[in-house]
Amino acid sequence: MTAADRERGEAVVAALHAIHPARHLFLPADLSLLADTDRVATLIAASTRRLDAAVFCAGVLSTIPEWTEEGLERALALNYLSRFLLARRLIPLLRAAPSGRLVLVANAGRYKDSLDFDDLQHRRGRRGLAVSGRTQFANDLLAVELAERLIGTRVEVTCVFPGVTRTEVFRNAVGLPRLVRLAVPLLQHLIRQTPEEAAETPAYLAGDERATGTNGMFFGPRRKVIAVPERASNPERRRLLWEASEALVAPYLANAEGTGGVAAARPSAGSSPAEAA
Ligand SMILES: NC(=O)c1ccc[n+]([C@@H]2O[C@H](COP(=O)([O-])OP(=O)(O)OC[C@H]3O[C@@H](n4cnc5c(N)ncnc54)[C@H](OP(=O)(O)O)[C@@H]3O)[C@@H](O)[C@H]2O)c1
Repeated sequence: MTAADRERGEAVVAALHAIHPARHLFLPADLSLLADTDRVATLIAASTRRLDAAVFCAGVLSTIPEWTEEGLERALALNYLSRFLLARRLIPLLRAAPSGRLVLVANAGRYKDSLDFDDLQHRRGRRGLAVSGRTQFANDLLAVELAERLIGTRVEVTCVFPGVTRTEVFRNAVGLPRLVRLAVPLLQHLIRQTPEEAAETPAYLAGDERATGTNGMFFGPRRKVIAVPERASNPERRRLLWEASEALVAPYLANAEGTGGVAAARPSAGSSPAEAA
């Protein structure tokens, strides 16, 4: 497990250990930095020869662009690029499992395509929900693209909208208007779904035998299947995002073996990975 806050992370691992005395490992990291994401990927690869599942969940709701010391827009780096890099680094380990599962917890299918490939770091972009929205849509494109590239392997990729959930998401949000910030305690009160309930679908997709054959599918709360919107399957947008992401993480892919375990894009982008699998 990885997270930013060491104390909270260690408390979670201690709680897990009390439930099940397996070997739990907490790797604190700032996943808004590619260098730190790469460090974690290296530590994971050094500590296991196979991964049964990887669930990518870390994220921030941000309405103002900010830039990290690596010059990347923070929400894009944390919510999307670190996932792209981790996926590329960890897929070889997932491929070594009998049924490797990669689950992207984002907003499956809910955001429109607001990615600007001429300004991916949002230097000229406006404030607003699109700062985060574009990172969520990027997860949609990534899920469909990875699923397609992994057809014929034992790895399955899914994307999840967990539902509006009473987590710390609004308290941790960046750039919310003052009025919304003031209303956060009330919002927290009104949101009914607990984190435990929201975790049910990602946990099912990551670990349940019945979730076999879900490659390329989108899910909502309570395992509800969400139709993959046409914009998320758009081959040209997927290609542009893949190429842009690959260029940004290129220094770290040198550490990965070969192509990071993913095949080249398939020319026939029309068929759904779930069907093909
Ligand atoms: N809650 C909702 O209503 C909702 C709705 C739709 C989608 N989602 C998605 O669900 C995912 C989880 O959100 P949440 O509701 O659980 O939000 P949250 O309560 O704010 O939790 C965010 C998580 O991300 C980790 N994180 C934040 N910044 C990090 C960094 N720089 N490096 C490493 N880890 C970092 C946090 O770790 P620390 O605890 O160590 O800070 C924490 O575990 C997000 O991807 C979000 O898009 C949530």
